Amino acid sequence: MAPIDPHSFTDSSHPLTTHVALSLYLDFNSSIIHGSALLTLSSAFNGELSLDTRSISIDMVLDPLTLDPLPYRVSTTPDRIRGTEVVVVLSGQSSLLIVYSTSPSASALQWLSPLQTFSKSHPYVYTQCQAIHARSIFPCQDTPAARIRYDVVMNIPNSLSAVMSARHVRRRLPVPEEAKHLEAGSLGSSLWSGEDRVVEEFAMEQPIPPYLFAFAVGELGFREVGPRTRVYAESAAVEVLDAAALEFAGTEDMIKQGEMLFGDYEWERFDLLVLPPSFPYGGMENPRMVFLTPTVIKGDASGAQVVAHELAHSWTGNLITNINNEHFWLNEGFTTYAERRIVEVVQGADRATLNIGIGWRGLTDEMERFKDNLECTKLWNKQEGVDPDDVYSQVPYEKGFQFVLRIERQIGRTAFDEFLKKYIATFKFKSIDTNTFLEFLKANIPGIEKEINLQLWTEGVGIPEDAYEPVSTIYTKIISLAKEFKEGRMPNEDEVAEWNGQEWELYLENLPKSCEPSQVMALDKRYRLAESKDYEVKVSFLQLAIASKCREYHGEVEKSLKAVGRMKYLRPLFTALAQTGGTEEKQLAKQVFAEARETYHPIAQGVVESILSKYI
Ligand code: BES
Ligand code: ZN
Repeated sequence: MAPIDPHSFTDSSHPLTTHVALSLYLDFNSSIIHGSALLTLSSAFNGELSLDTRSISIDMVLDPLTLDPLPYRVSTTPDRIRGTEVVVVLSGQSSLLIVYSTSPSASALQWLSPLQTFSKSHPYVYTQCQAIHARSIFPCQDTPAARIRYDVVMNIPNSLSAVMSARHVRRRLPVPEEAKHLEAGSLGSSLWSGEDRVVEEFAMEQPIPPYLFAFAVGELGFREVGPRTRVYAESAAVEVLDAAALEFAGTEDMIKQGEMLFGDYEWERFDLLVLPPSFPYGGMENPRMVFLTPTVIKGDASGAQVVAHELAHSWTGNLITNINNEHFWLNEGFTTYAERRIVEVVQGADRATLNIGIGWRGLTDEMERFKDNLECTKLWNKQEGVDPDDVYSQVPYEKGFQFVLRIERQIGRTAFDEFLKKYIATFKFKSIDTNTFLEFLKANIPGIEKEINLQLWTEGVGIPEDAYEPVSTIYTKIISLAKEFKEGRMPNEDEVAEWNGQEWELYLENLPKSCEPSQVMALDKRYRLAESKDYEVKVSFLQLAIASKCREYHGEVEKSLKAVGRMKYLRPLFTALAQTGGTEEKQLAKQVFAEARETYHPIAQGVVESILSKYI
């Protein structure tokens, strides 16, 4: 008896779930899902089976064959990180049926009132399950070590439609008999087949880790952008749909490029869903349908870059998956490498190099952030008692990228491409750890361990000396302009004439953390950075302004924190206010959070809370 994942109650001696059949009744009035989950195990089991839940209340557990109740107990002491363990006593069954309901505070779900949506007339709900939030939607073995197929029957108001990271089977009228278990639980009788309800059915036929379970329900519309790609958004958000269709027009080319580099695209469709501005990430690689923040649509190359990243996960992350979050770099490091390979082909080597440069800057910043917590600078790091949302950083992305690139540089591109294809073909639909990768590497590239210190790269702290800071004319020029700012020189119009958001981002990130306030304001006066429509630029600038005590920007900071819930922006702005700021800044952080809190996804609420409690 031993846990297989520091973030799950799943036990190594238990059979893993292979299939989940869910019936879900979405109640927008109470922000609750009444559900039943039929879990099928890989084999029959005798004894106490541990499941993960978070803020879920269980009505009953049944043997699905006999409909006899099964004994179960719910832990009375929830774990701060893992949630509440539920133990079901099985006597030889290989499946179990759990009838339950979720809580309005379910950590994976954000329920938006009509006023929080574009249309202002219909509610909206969406999920974000990575890393450990699927357990707040249905009881499960919420570890990527388990790979599940699933079916979903989702009952929603008929004015809305549902999308999932799964195949859409049909939309149909509800049938009263299918609600018998739910109605024996906490769902009121005959609500299921109310006349304003409709059922959407989905099926996921490929085995996925539970963190890739995803849906969104709202008044949705779409545009076709390619033979296997549509972009979805709220149908009232016509401008968003139009802009997204333009921005992502090149998606099919990227999929083809991905196939050339990494092998067949195994997920059939590659749709994109543009979420409301509160979506906590830039993108999430939900299979068949990637979820995106609307802030990536800005009419330049960077939107496509986020799509390239999430697309690359179709191979690295979704086909080959980290066995638990301690090996998260296997997902993100390989994906960052794959993303840049795609970008290199579709946007050119200069753009790819610039991205490597932005990443390099991010990585060196993280070393500073984690100087008292060196464990977080390791690729393979211990996460017992650690909340993945608290330690989310660039390290698995950029140090992981550097490690993959180091191998490529050692053996050359041609050999590396061949290796990568073989790696993906060998482990597809499997969840693996760092050692499995290293063994495969050593077996396929004999002698590699003599050329590269594999242990230092995967288990050592900091940035190894043989990492690679990129060189390119534009990269070097921007870095040297940033150095000159420290001596008081601002770039002139000619020098920035060709700059896009990413050039500005690289420039701003390479300035000192805080500067002379008059200099910061002069820079903004000339280049209007605080008002940039590009949030990467705007937030980088505002972060500098806060740390430089330029208080005239507090209004803009507040506006930004209330407009967008992407954690990439919330983290630095709240950290700058709370950590480097004086009383006024700390006060602003508290006030804005109190006012904006409800508009953030629960994961973002938790992350901001932990930043504020650390410094205030
Ligand atoms: N899988 C991640 C997002 C994620 C990581 C969600 C950990 C929950 C826990 C996704 O692929 C990602 O990395 N998104 C990036 C975009 C990207 C271009 C680097 C983001 O959201 O900024
Ligand atoms: Zn990623």
